[in-house]
Amino acid sequence: MANISVFGLGYVGCVGIGCFAKLGHNLIGYDIDSHKVERVSKGLATIVEREIDDLMAEGHAAGRITATNSVEQAVMQSDISFLCVGTPNAPDGQLDLSYILSASENIGKVLRAKSTFHIVVIRSTVPPGTNELISKIIESHSRKKAGVHFTVVSNPEFLREGVAVADFLNPPLTVLGSQDVKALKKMRELYEPLICEIVEVTPKVAEIIKFVNNSYHALKVTFANEVGAICKKLDIDSHQVMSLFCKDDQLNVSCYYFTPGFAYGGSCLPKDLKGLNYIANSKQVKVPVLSSISTSNQTHIYRALERVQHIGARSVGIIGLTFKAGTDDFRNSAAILLAEAILGKGNSLRIYDRFLNIARDKETNLQDINQNIPHLVPLLEASVEDVVSKVSLVIITVRNPELPDLIRNHPNVHFLDLVRLKDPTVEELPNYEGFCW
Ligand SMILES: NC(=O)c1ccc[n+]([C@@H]2O[C@H](COP(=O)([O-])OP(=O)(O)OC[C@H]3O[C@@H](n4cnc5c(N)ncnc54)[C@H](O)[C@@H]3O)[C@@H](O)[C@H]2O)c1
Repeated sequence: MANISVFGLGYVGCVGIGCFAKLGHNLIGYDIDSHKVERVSKGLATIVEREIDDLMAEGHAAGRITATNSVEQAVMQSDISFLCVGTPNAPDGQLDLSYILSASENIGKVLRAKSTFHIVVIRSTVPPGTNELISKIIESHSRKKAGVHFTVVSNPEFLREGVAVADFLNPPLTVLGSQDVKALKKMRELYEPLICEIVEVTPKVAEIIKFVNNSYHALKVTFANEVGAICKKLDIDSHQVMSLFCKDDQLNVSCYYFTPGFAYGGSCLPKDLKGLNYIANSKQVKVPVLSSISTSNQTHIYRALERVQHIGARSVGIIGLTFKAGTDDFRNSAAILLAEAILGKGNSLRIYDRFLNIARDKETNLQDINQNIPHLVPLLEASVEDVVSKVSLVIITVRNPELPDLIRNHPNVHFLDLVRLKDPTVEELPNYEGFCW
């Protein structure tokens, strides 16, 4: 059983109080809004939400829920303080951290006089780096040391309003962003009764995940609505389409395609996306999400080119030219667009592609190769080593098994990995860099 203070008695704070009390902990709430403090101190919820009234009343009746207008009382009577204050958008879009920074400052001032270890938990949604900032604020106001006298743990909240209590008690996962073993142990104990995976990550990972989640959820809604708008014009039942879509848990509703790497290409994705945009346009259906996907993909190729220019090598090699490993299909290959852009900037280029070499040997795709990429054929080398020995920058677009050793053995050649070789020892090397991780 833990003694917990909760700063901010809105949706997140009130649900946290009710649910942690149900799990047997002692809660003390604090808010700058005295009306909310008054309600919680009487065992009343501050929000309209399923099941919350009963949880608040039960917790209060059991003597586990109180509230106070005093920061000092809240901090002194607890070992863990949850920050659940609002972080609304400022006019320029960034999150306004003034409430959470002010609450942290107040907690820091009280910690100065507290002799026992204290955990401050960031439950609010905050941008990466806020954990560090709050640690420094608390250090300066408490004159105590982070990691010794207190620790700040990032623990994003995943609840959805309307089913907030159920979500709190049955979360998809619990994320703990901290490297403090002592604090992590305490936090694990809090969440152990909830049967869900507890994942320990760095504070920055814990901080950004909420933005990533909610942006993706917003993307899902708009994607489905654009499909709905197109289907409606074509007299197709969009609900049947999307329920069919969701049945594919290998490619559609799955981890597949979710690894940051290089741009998509090939014969299907660009073609069919273009085709769907054409259908939407021909029916005067505006689809800003679908119509911006290709622009995003182009931007990503351009990002790689910018990186190449920034590295400044004039002799460049590319490992992998077809649109993905395991095929000689180079239609709409993003690696080809990148190769052409690199040549266009006046660099020399050497290329190795195992599958194109096989295709040329077997003469399977010869006509297409000679017709469509005659300018790249003379640049093809017989082996990865041949490329690496002739250039000062190697761009990796496929996971070739020889590459880790070549990276280790060629410290003067820089390697830009667009697909992640997934070799931790290589990632430590100064001549290696990952593209978007
Ligand atoms: N509402 C949700 O569904 C949800 C879900 C997950 C995460 N979040 C995140 O949790 C945070 C809180 O969201 P919410 O919806 O509960 O906000 P809310 O506006 O309902 O509640 C915030 C409370 O913080 C109080 N407050 C402001 N400054 C304070 C201070 N210095 N000390 C103590 N209290 C202070 C306010 O008076 C208010 O009662 C936000 O960062 C939000 O993005 C919200």
